[in-house]
Amino acid sequence: MNAMIKIDEVVAGYIKDVDILNGISLYAEPAEIVCLLGPNGCGKSTLLKTIAGYLCTRSGIVWLNGKDVSGVPVHDKVRSCGLGFVPQTDNIFTAMSVYENLLMGGYYVPVRERDKRISQLCALYPVLERKLHAPAASMSGGERQILALARALMPNPRVLLLDEPSAGLSPKVLHEVFDAIMQVREQEGVTIIMVEQNAIEAMRISDRAYILSLGTVALSGQCRELLHDAKVRELYLGGRVD
Ligand SMILES: Nc1ncnc2c1ncn2[C@@H]1O[C@H](COP(=O)(O)OP(=O)(O)O)[C@@H](O)[C@H]1O
Ligand SMILES: [Mg+2]
Repeated sequence: MNAMIKIDEVVAGYIKDVDILNGISLYAEPAEIVCLLGPNGCGKSTLLKTIAGYLCTRSGIVWLNGKDVSGVPVHDKVRSCGLGFVPQTDNIFTAMSVYENLLMGGYYVPVRERDKRISQLCALYPVLERKLHAPAASMSGGERQILALARALMPNPRVLLLDEPSAGLSPKVLHEVFDAIMQVREQEGVTIIMVEQNAIEAMRISDRAYILSLGTVALSGQCRELLHDAKVRELYLGGRVD
């Protein structure tokens, strides 16, 4: 199997002797969208932080494009390993303009290439073009998520980790943000691992899902199968799926 990202029996946590991730394993293939679902506190954000390198693995291996990156800190993963990370909150600089936010995202991009990349991202997401020199604080919730996404895309990552990109958005705006996520997969072939609370909507745009429980995988599979599995619906998705 040719995984773009692979997590092998990873154990991690914040406090000594307390593990939050309990030997979790999963993978994503090139250009796949994989969603991570599960109740509050089960370790979804912790897993993304561990993959990104904000948190050290206690054991297990994080593979990125065939390379063991378990001990690589986050700035090196962004600079040299093709990883992008959009945290759940505080993912843009509201005091700066949209353009300045994108420049910050391109910190490791050679100066002469930054404006070209900003133009590409403005073509992908026209809302950025319209607001390029406005303060990011003037953007709506959905626009901010698209800016956060674009900021992470500045260095052309091969893998993007998204923590609850639809948090706090109305259903209409959620679809705009999910469209933006699908678009970048289609146009740039980025592999996406996305944590979501809106399980059904997330599974509609994802190829596969992992449902986590207590820092390990409780269930996984192709979304089109999970969405129509009566037991999954009853246990995890709150009943009917139309
Ligand atoms: N910075 C932290 N320090 C200590 N414990 C934390 C920290 N962040 C999260 N935790 C704990 O780790 C567990 C998993 O949290 P998290 O990964 O944020 O869950 P999820 O994203 O699935 O809601 C929870 O018990 C939470 O209290
Ligand atoms: Mg979380």
